[in-house]
Amino acid sequence: MTQRTLVLLKPDSIQRGLAGEIIGRLEHRGLRIAAAKLIRVDEDLAHRHYGEHVGKPFFDGLVRFITAAPVMAMVIEGEAAVASVRAAMGATNPLDAAPGSIRGDLALSIGMNLIHGSDSEESAEREIDLFFSPGEILDYTRDVDRWITES
Ligand code: RTP
Ligand code: MG
Repeated sequence: MTQRTLVLLKPDSIQRGLAGEIIGRLEHRGLRIAAAKLIRVDEDLAHRHYGEHVGKPFFDGLVRFITAAPVMAMVIEGEAAVASVRAAMGATNPLDAAPGSIRGDLALSIGMNLIHGSDSEESAEREIDLFFSPGEILDYTRDVDRWITES
């Protein structure tokens, strides 16, 4: 089933010049970009996005990190996009992430793990709404889509 999910290329992705590499991996999987923008996440957006983690020991560091430098926010679309992106990302702690995953291949630290992907359809809906207005999300298909999923 076609789904949408929110992806953030975190500040370390942009600072390390890995945006192209990471977007390429998602595109090569067959997923398509429905929206994209480079933004600076402010305190308020960080608190709303990571609301489930308020009060946890890593929360302040997480907010400091995500607000420290530009982030690429994207809506990624495709077959089971939520689970497909989570699998491509790998485990939260890069030291546990499988080789072949983005975190497993490209990161070493749980606090700098390159990419966010929504963890459920409900989170995806909420998070896409936080980062994008409906007019910024484009409805389209690509010719190649018929070679990625059977209709
Ligand atoms: P994300 O939300 O960023 O996609 O990552 P996730 O679902 O894999 O992990 P989540 O549990 O939602 O945690 C959000 C981010 O907080 C940092 N974290 N640090 N030190 C720690 O124990 C710890 N736990 C989580 C990570 O940067 C994680 O991506
Ligand atoms: Mg999460």
